[in-house]
Amino acid sequence: MVTVRDLQAKTGDEPITMLTAYDAPTAEIVDEAGVDVILVGDSVGNTTLGHETTLPVTVADMERHTAAVVRATDEAMVVADMPFLSYGADEKESIHNAGRMLTEAGAAAVKLESGPHTVSLTERMVQLGIPVMAHLGLTPQHVNQYGGYPRQGTDQEAAERILELARAHEDAGAFSLVLEHVPANLAAEVTDALEIPTIGIGAGPDCDGQVLVFNDAVGLSEWSPSFSKQFGDVRGEMKQAVDDYVDAVESETFPADEHSHEEGNLEDLY
Ligand code: KIV
Repeated sequence: MVTVRDLQAKTGDEPITMLTAYDAPTAEIVDEAGVDVILVGDSVGNTTLGHETTLPVTVADMERHTAAVVRATDEAMVVADMPFLSYGADEKESIHNAGRMLTEAGAAAVKLESGPHTVSLTERMVQLGIPVMAHLGLTPQHVNQYGGYPRQGTDQEAAERILELARAHEDAGAFSLVLEHVPANLAAEVTDALEIPTIGIGAGPDCDGQVLVFNDAVGLSEWSPSFSKQFGDVRGEMKQAVDDYVDAVESETFPADEHSHEEGNLEDLY
C-alpha cells in the first residue's frame, strides 16, 4: 500500500501518478496499472452522477463511491475528496465528515479545496490523524464566483497569494498539494518552495506528479479541458460495442447456440 510517507519520499524522484476513479471496476484497472494515488474526486458529480457541477455532490455520495474504490484497490493510496460545504463552515462538522471518509469508507486521506478558510482546519485534521491533501489554483467548488473554470494565478498578486497559501498549508501539515489550472512557471515556483509533493493538473511539467480525471484520460468524456490528454477512445469503443449488440439482437444473431442451453424433459413441466 502506498502511504503518505512513500509519496513524500518521491519529491524530486520519479513523478507521482494520480488518477480519479469512482467505482470498483475502474479502481481495479487503475490500481493494476500501478498508479500511486486514486482520487475519488467530487468530479464524480459531473463524470458519473449527471450533474452540471460538483456542487450537488453529498458526503453520502462520496462515502459510497470511496468505499467501492477502496474495496477494489490493493496498492494505491485512496484519497477521498470532501464535497462542497461538507467542510470549512463548522470545524466539528468538517472533522466529523472527513473522519467518515476514513472510518466508514476506508480512505487513507482526504482532499480539501483549499483557501484561507482551510489553514487551521487542515492543522486540526492532521493533529487528529486525518491526512490532508490540499488543493489550490482552480478550485471548481467556486464555480459560481469564477463564472466558469478560468485559469488561476495569472497576475503577480494572484500568484503570490497561491504561493503564500501553499506555504501555509504545508506548515499546517498537508502531506501534498494539488495545483489546478495555473501557469506552469507558477507551479514550478511553488514546487520549488515546498518540501511536500505538488501534483499538477493543467499546471505544466514541473510538479512532483500529475493527476487527470479518469474519464478525460481514457477518452470517455464527451468534452474535456484543453490541458487534459485523451490516452484512449473508450467512448468510441463503448458506443461501437453497444451498436454491435443492438444490431446482433435485432438481426437475431445473438444469442447464438453457444449462449443458450436446453434441458431434456422440460415438457414434463407443462
Ligand atoms: O474532483 C476531482 O477530480 C479533482 C481533480 C481534478 C484534482 O479535484
